[in-house]
Amino acid sequence: MTIDAISRRSFLKQVGAAGALAYSSHAEALNLTAPQSATGSGAVSAADATQAATRAQRMAWWHAAKFGMFIHWGLYSVLGQHEWAMEAEGIPIPQYELMAKHFNPKPNAARDWARLAKRAGQKYMVMTTKHHEGFCMFDTKLTDYCAPKQGPGRDLVREYVEAARAEGLRVGFYYSLMDWHHPDGAKCKTDEAARKRFVAYTHGLIRELMTNYGKIDVLWYDVDAPLTPEEWESERMNQMVFELQPEIIVNNRNGLDGDFSTPEQHIEASKEGRAWETCMTLNDSWGYNRGDDSWKTPKEIVSNLATCAAGGGNYLLNIGPKPDGSVPQESVDVLEKVGAWLDTNGKAIYLTDRGSFPAAPNTQFTRRGNTLYVHQKYWPGVTPAAQWLSFFQPGVVVAIGGLKAKVTSARLLKSGQSVAFTQNEPLTLRLTGLPVDAPDSPMTVLELECDSEPTIDAWEMVSKWPRYKVGIG
Ligand code: GLC
Repeated sequence: MTIDAISRRSFLKQVGAAGALAYSSHAEALNLTAPQSATGSGAVSAADATQAATRAQRMAWWHAAKFGMFIHWGLYSVLGQHEWAMEAEGIPIPQYELMAKHFNPKPNAARDWARLAKRAGQKYMVMTTKHHEGFCMFDTKLTDYCAPKQGPGRDLVREYVEAARAEGLRVGFYYSLMDWHHPDGAKCKTDEAARKRFVAYTHGLIRELMTNYGKIDVLWYDVDAPLTPEEWESERMNQMVFELQPEIIVNNRNGLDGDFSTPEQHIEASKEGRAWETCMTLNDSWGYNRGDDSWKTPKEIVSNLATCAAGGGNYLLNIGPKPDGSVPQESVDVLEKVGAWLDTNGKAIYLTDRGSFPAAPNTQFTRRGNTLYVHQKYWPGVTPAAQWLSFFQPGVVVAIGGLKAKVTSARLLKSGQSVAFTQNEPLTLRLTGLPVDAPDSPMTVLELECDSEPTIDAWEMVSKWPRYKVGIG
């Protein structure tokens, strides 16, 4: 093991990581991504206040976008064993570096990603410009460990930016502060001279990214180990970013609150008023992982998208292109199905408002103003119980308990076909006469106009429910 490899390992030990990694969500396991307050004391700096003043306007497009494509691509793609392999498998740096020479992606692979994102209904893209492995996918004056000076022989970030813009998609840069390759990447925690050098290097790379590619829409920091926000000089970092890109939005992973929170591999709404985006893999890996066959289904993705939209959040869904830049076919298949669904059901996702809905086993909800979207995840078909229970007649019935608004009309979103319904006290809505087979796939959406903001409160229904004597009379 080289000195560098040893210092990487001891650095991870320092941050309490050694031996305790759950490789599907390491940063989370390490508690490295938890949103931290800028100062730890709740104090707001002048820079924070300026950013807060423009936040609503800067983020308007992002809130309407709802769905983005995350792209993890780097030297780890050549290895094809997950983007944490360097650390997880303790690969010596001189060995790992060899992949930089053998990374030869096809030209303009990013065009296919951008076209795929467009077909999938994704409105923005976020690509790894430098992951924890330290390899820069862009042209930089600060290191030779970058795409133009190694195997690729060209600036892969520039290709990506051009490809996204050509499809009318917003452009985001992922940037990992943690660096397993740079000699100061670990030392910076214990050696002040190394910290100063490494912070200058980090700010310098970010400055290049914010200067050389025109307007950038999102800066997506990642893992701020091993330094504190003060040690990273994160306030100054964000100030520089906003000076260079006044309309950008930044996340919370440089230790400051930034503009939005970043729950990873799970969906968790922030408190009202705070923007959030769930990032998630399509299988279990961010970077290309040849053996990982744990692909999510189109239904899971559509369902997650609806869950995010219901909570007023965004969904950033990852692809891990192969070393040549091509996208694994499984990812293409899922994204195309999701895109086809969004083509006719986008209304129920994109412009929706945060709502107040419980988790129901078969049904999810989103809303826009007084319009309720009922996403039927599992179509009920004809229940055998319908022969005895008039509640499940006529035809196929979708029933919703606890809806606190009066429905004035109902239709199938895909076809516009109107749907009959009854709404009785206490709070039971029955949509009746529906087809036996699900009219849409992977989920069927019903659009319900209501007389006021629709909310669903099952408890209220339970508390109003007339109780009968127990037993069958
Ligand atoms: C974690 C992982 C990293 C991945 C990121 C995406 O921080 O360390 O591999 O890029 O999550 O959110």
